[in-house]
Amino acid sequence: MKVGVIGTGMMGRNHVRVFSELRAVREVMVFDLDADAAAAVASTLGATTAPSIEALLDRVDAVSICVPTPYHLATAERVASAGVPMLIEKPVCAGVEEGERLLDALPRGLVAGVGQIERFNPVVGEVARMVSDPLYVELKRHNPTSSRITGTSVIEDLMIHDIDILAHVLFPGVARRVSAAGGEDVCSALFSLGDCHAQVSASRKSSKKIRSLYIEEEEATIEADLMTQEVYVYRKPDRYTQNGGRYVQDNIIEKLLVNRLEPLRVELQAFLQAVTGGPAFPVTLAQGVENLRIANAIRAAL
Ligand SMILES: NC(=O)c1ccc[n+]([C@@H]2O[C@H](COP(=O)([O-])OP(=O)(O)OC[C@H]3O[C@@H](n4cnc5c(N)ncnc54)[C@H](O)[C@@H]3O)[C@@H](O)[C@H]2O)c1
Repeated sequence: MKVGVIGTGMMGRNHVRVFSELRAVREVMVFDLDADAAAAVASTLGATTAPSIEALLDRVDAVSICVPTPYHLATAERVASAGVPMLIEKPVCAGVEEGERLLDALPRGLVAGVGQIERFNPVVGEVARMVSDPLYVELKRHNPTSSRITGTSVIEDLMIHDIDILAHVLFPGVARRVSAAGGEDVCSALFSLGDCHAQVSASRKSSKKIRSLYIEEEEATIEADLMTQEVYVYRKPDRYTQNGGRYVQDNIIEKLLVNRLEPLRVELQAFLQAVTGGPAFPVTLAQGVENLRIANAIRAAL
């Protein structure tokens, strides 16, 4: 297959690297408004450059859109009108209205997905399989300050990953209410989800990088680190004993064996499989737009 990557900045470069490592990919072609940036990435990773988006779309079977979020809609519309399958980086668009416009512009049957990368993190799938009746969920995504200009608040930039996990992995179809506090760079949201509540926080001001998922159920507590891909399950002791007047509690802690994989590699493989007639890509544009609706609800609750 020939694949294209539009936008060769921080994230686009990763798409080029991973695509070029996949056996199904014969050629990677890149386009960036900054021709020097495109040429640098192409020469380092063995890709070829295209002189324009149209030239790229003429040549490739599928494309990743990795331009800054404010340009997702305009770029995706051009890709849609060329009828080329596309994977759009998250968040799908700069707002719900733009997302709905894109849904309307999409030709029927054209493969299009959103790069909500945590869906492809093996830890998230593993935890989802274990969870049966959560009482409390906590998701944290804290980053050191970055010089990257995203054009979006911390909700669309970072929290959107955990919004996606809540809405489409842990609690699909569950009615939710949300309250929130914070601002552009640090934000906390509290979701009521039936009998459970979930605390989600995101920050672009932290001195420590955190990506964690914590779930309490009646019989077990699950703790996952989405970066190291480690999962621990804590179970209540069968009994408490006394030792010299002190209570002794024999907690059972299991470390789950998770098959460590790079989420972007799993995501891009799933995309190419969908393009070549395999299973549908799991993150739909409609889900990406739903994530933006939830982001709006959080902002309205601030
Ligand atoms: N999945 C993730 O975890 C993750 C992480 C970071 C960024 N992202 C997303 O990836 C996208 C890109 O972010 P980034 O950090 O790589 O940005 P970036 O600023 O590092 O790179 C963007 C690149 O796009 C180019 N560009 C801008 N407008 C263009 C256009 N119209 N046509 C072609 N090229 C254009 C720029 O010259 C630049 O090289 C954003 O939507 C962002 O939200 C996702």
